Amino acid sequence: MDPDRTYLAERLRDGEVLALTGAGLSTASGLPDYRGPDGQRRVEPMTIAQFRTGADARRRYWSRSYVGWERFRQAAPNGAHRHMAALEQAGLITATITQNVDGLAQEAGSTNVIELHGNLGRAICLNCGRTVDRQWMQEEFSALNPAFAADAERARELPLRPDGDVDIDESLIHDIALVDCPSCGSDLLKPDVVMFGESVPKETVEYCFALVERARTLLVVGSSLGVMSGYRFARRAAAHDIPVVLVNTGWSRAEELADRHLHRPLQEVLAEAVADVGITDRG
Ligand SMILES: NC(=O)c1ccc[n+]([C@@H]2O[C@H](COP(=O)([O-])OP(=O)(O)OC[C@H]3O[C@@H](n4cnc5c(N)ncnc54)[C@H](O)[C@@H]3O)[C@@H](O)[C@H]2O)c1
Ligand SMILES: [Zn+2]
Repeated sequence: MDPDRTYLAERLRDGEVLALTGAGLSTASGLPDYRGPDGQRRVEPMTIAQFRTGADARRRYWSRSYVGWERFRQAAPNGAHRHMAALEQAGLITATITQNVDGLAQEAGSTNVIELHGNLGRAICLNCGRTVDRQWMQEEFSALNPAFAADAERARELPLRPDGDVDIDESLIHDIALVDCPSCGSDLLKPDVVMFGESVPKETVEYCFALVERARTLLVVGSSLGVMSGYRFARRAAAHDIPVVLVNTGWSRAEELADRHLHRPLQEVLAEAVADVGITDRG
């Protein structure tokens, strides 16, 4: 048998595996990743500074997000999410740190999931801290902007981008009204995700470091670790001589410190792993 496959099965059977997951896990659910195999970032996401400083930036964000939301919301877990959930239910994966903001791991049945970068299903008010449901915002936005909502119908066939938005014609966005916070009335509602230029709350990072240090293996699935936010956990594992196994097609920033790098479709790798450790799932 392929030595990488044997090695991964051994690490899983040994238990106490901490999973660290990324956008590659959800590409088969129709949500594009950031970097793809060559490691080049395909999009230039909006930063928190841009978002905070201008109503125009927020109009731009929410109108593009409005068009993409239906598709993002309707994305369903794929076989890889179900394999990961089965490995958790079998007691081999103890926890999952996910960089994804789509909630698909939990939908597939993983329960011990830390959402490192938040979840697009909520928005948070930068003025008062109130959180609101993203679907509620969609309905409010549509009621406030009926003409835009009608135009948006025509933009629905444009490709969905990694942040769940769509690259719409800039001329459409100038007159749109923003949804205000239902508690304080501010127009500073932000998606409840860690935007570029923001950092993960310190307590969350500390908690994740503690999980890493307790683990017997760090299994990185579908992430290039191009962002320090996830990469630091691979570094911490390596510093504690905890084996790091990478499963992603293409480049990884953690190449040098990993024990193995399986450059193969993760659906296949996980299906084999589940079979090798002798569990059945709904893959
Ligand atoms: N679904 C989501 O929630 C989503 C989607 C895009 C971006 N993001 C955000 O963007 C950042 C992206 O960083 P990242 O490291 O998670 O993603 P990334 O895009 O940097 O890396 C994804 C990696 O997975 C690989 N990959 C894609 N499909 C694969 C498959 N079927 N089999 C094997 N490998 C596959 C790619 O080649 C790439 O190496 C994260 O911080 C995240 O918050 C989230
Ligand atoms: Zn508020």
